[in-house]
Amino acid sequence: PNDAANPSDDPGPLAESPFLLACRRRPVPHTPVWFMRQAGRALPEYLRLREGVPMLESCARPDMIVEITMQPMRRYGVDAAIFFSDIVVPLKAIGIDLDIKPGVGPVIADPIRDAAGLEALRPLEPGDVPYVTEAVQGLVGELGATPLIGFAGGPFTLASYLIEGGPSKNQERTKAMMYGEPELWDRLMGRLADITIAFLKVQIAAGASAIQVFDSWVGSVAPEDYRASVLPHTGRIFAEIEQFGVPRIHFGVGTGELLGLMGEAGADVVGVDWRVPLDEAVRRVEPGKALQGNLDPAVLFAPWETVERRALDVLARGRTAEGHVFNLGHGVLPSTNPDVLARLVDLVHEASTAR
Ligand code: CP3
Repeated sequence: PNDAANPSDDPGPLAESPFLLACRRRPVPHTPVWFMRQAGRALPEYLRLREGVPMLESCARPDMIVEITMQPMRRYGVDAAIFFSDIVVPLKAIGIDLDIKPGVGPVIADPIRDAAGLEALRPLEPGDVPYVTEAVQGLVGELGATPLIGFAGGPFTLASYLIEGGPSKNQERTKAMMYGEPELWDRLMGRLADITIAFLKVQIAAGASAIQVFDSWVGSVAPEDYRASVLPHTGRIFAEIEQFGVPRIHFGVGTGELLGLMGEAGADVVGVDWRVPLDEAVRRVEPGKALQGNLDPAVLFAPWETVERRALDVLARGRTAEGHVFNLGHGVLPSTNPDVLARLVDLVHEASTAR
């Protein structure tokens, strides 16, 4: 059913969607736009649905996954849906004792800090996440010509939650292992890359037409260390996914100095946060890649004239890229006004139509 995976066949409406065209650096009728974290706390209908249902439980119920993924599609004219789940869902599915605490994030009961701890990271089998398969299949049917983006956490970000036991400002234990116990680090990162590959394959097999690897916290690593300790693992993830022919997006926060390496790791699209203007990002990323980004999510709290001016600036700089997918530089902030997001989508479409 994945016509995006068969570029040689008759392309069909899905493959001709502006989002997939831009990812493939082909001409587009308008610049496509979607928002990281477009489903979730900015939407009152989300809060109502989630009342009394813990986050991880909602991620294991196909009916809720489908409904929450579709909520932003009804409000905004975005060009892609992002699967409702979380980067720690595959870890939970293989039996890691963890929870997502509201206002905090993922918390791990028994952090992994030695070779014995690695044993908890068994491989992920498709049968561990039947609700993901069911929800993706349902969504692909509902979405029709609109692409569904599958996703997984990047290995550094997953390692950091597992080693620290929760969110961390300085990643000191994570880096202590990366610098001090490189063999243990590589074994941990290898297992996490396998889990990410398996989780992405489940989503692609069920019909996802693109994937994004969220290595959100990898921006804390210096380029040399990224090349030595992260890139080999992320590179393997992208290499394993290449065979399916779906665009691969690679995103992290504060990764200005890593953009070139993140492209080298094998992504088709490099996600850029708001700190690096897109025309500068073009210079940092090797040719043959599209870019995604990068309006500061906090700009949405400024008067509309400012939002408009800044969005048009992102579009103008994005025109220097071989392909541009408009997005925020990180996820939608919880108190964002959904009406501003709706207006922003219309602005991006209208202002880019002549491209
Ligand atoms: O983008 C989407 O709309 C799809 C859903 C999605 C969620 N998490 C749902 C979620 C995606 C793509 C993620 C990815 C994710 N999860 C990342 C990478 C993206 C990023 O923001 O950098 C990270 C680092 C996580 C880990 C995580 N899960 C955090 C930091 C939090 C926030 C904790 C909080 O309450 O402040 C979560 C919980 C989470 N994941 C929520 C949602 C909608 C909020 C939980 C709730 O509504 O109860």
